[in-house]
Amino acid sequence: MARRRVAILISGRGSNMTALIEAAKAKDYPAEIVLVISNIAGAGGLAKASDAGIETATVESKPFGKDREAFERKLHDVLVAHNIELVCLAGFLRLLTPWFVRQWEGRMLNIHPALLPAYKGLHTHERALADGVKIHGATVHFVVPEMDSGPIVIQGAVAVRDNDTPDTLAVRVLGIEHRIYPDALRLVASGRTRLENGLCKTDGNGSPPDKLISPEVI
Ligand code: GRF
Repeated sequence: MARRRVAILISGRGSNMTALIEAAKAKDYPAEIVLVISNIAGAGGLAKASDAGIETATVESKPFGKDREAFERKLHDVLVAHNIELVCLAGFLRLLTPWFVRQWEGRMLNIHPALLPAYKGLHTHERALADGVKIHGATVHFVVPEMDSGPIVIQGAVAVRDNDTPDTLAVRVLGIEHRIYPDALRLVASGRTRLENGLCKTDGNGSPPDKLISPEVI
């Protein structure tokens, strides 16, 4: 089967981008990363993508000011010109308009550093610690107009420790992110996911461990 053509949109260091690029090197991976686009000139991830031999583009959002749709039309044109089939947002710090989201409906993924629908928005690790939750994690979901919503493809969880700080928790959640984003793209690109009534269902689910208990009492 032809591999699906994927673009990754970034604004920063691009560690999730790197995880996707690495995963896509596998011969049986159902997607190829053909383009990385940043809305910020000089974003750290751009150099990493170039080093990995991936074409990069910068479509700066700043010159467009509040005209989000004008920026997005330019972005959309670049994606279409590269025959992109799937878009992965990976630390892309722009709210997208309903117009853009509609263009890529069912074909655009995002990763969020929390177990959605808990902790939408920013500062997820700080807020999780302030609430004293014992399990936290990350989510890959399809993008819909409402921020950090949309059908959930995959989630990964970590146990929260009493002595965690936002930084120590972020490190462990990031490790989970790097594992689940490539898995999510594998599922979606290979056609193993389907959207039913606003939810994402997966064919050929393995049998995951049923439980993650935190703290574990021994
Ligand atoms: C990640 O924590 C991701 O969940 C969030 O933004 C961060 C991006 O990090 N959306 P990186 O650029 O992938 O390293």
